[in-house]
Amino acid sequence: MKRAVYPGSFDPMTYGHLDIIRRSAEMFDELIVAVLVNNEKNALFSVEERVKILQKATEGMANVTVDSFSGLLINYAVEKNLHVAVRGLRAITDFEYELQMSQTNRMLSDGKLDTIYLNTSLQYSYLSSSSVKEIAAFGGDVSNCVPDYVAALLQEKFAGRRK
Ligand code: PNS
Repeated sequence: MKRAVYPGSFDPMTYGHLDIIRRSAEMFDELIVAVLVNNEKNALFSVEERVKILQKATEGMANVTVDSFSGLLINYAVEKNLHVAVRGLRAITDFEYELQMSQTNRMLSDGKLDTIYLNTSLQYSYLSSSSVKEIAAFGGDVSNCVPDYVAALLQEKFAGRRK
């Protein structure tokens, strides 16, 4: 059985992430989307909110589950017996960071955790969670970037902050 983990911050999930989830779910028998619990990062959404968003987005995908993890990805991979991590590459600018992470994970796991990359579909190659948050913070339209319920949550968050 081919299994993989798609780790990330997903703060919040965008159509770019969803594109990677859909495509990798077709390649593996089981895909675990794993949200990093990172207390140092100043996240807009709580881990619970991010997990809920991903669960809603993947409702119809029978072989996809959503989880969260803290600490090192390789420890999570060992715990779940996972040997493949999936990541999306939008542009060459992502590559350096991704290569460093992948090599570090291979070193830490003694070669037992490999990373595969999917090129983000062209129509989402400009998308990032950070730019979505910036657009939403200034009241811009994010309907091309995230599902409606995420757009509504973003609106709520930033309306609260503007008060
Ligand atoms: O969506 P992101 O923020 O680009 O995802 C980054 C993530 C969560 C995949 C990465 O930061 C991670 O795996 N963090 C866990 C800590 C870890 O394992 N670090 C060693 C690899 S550098």
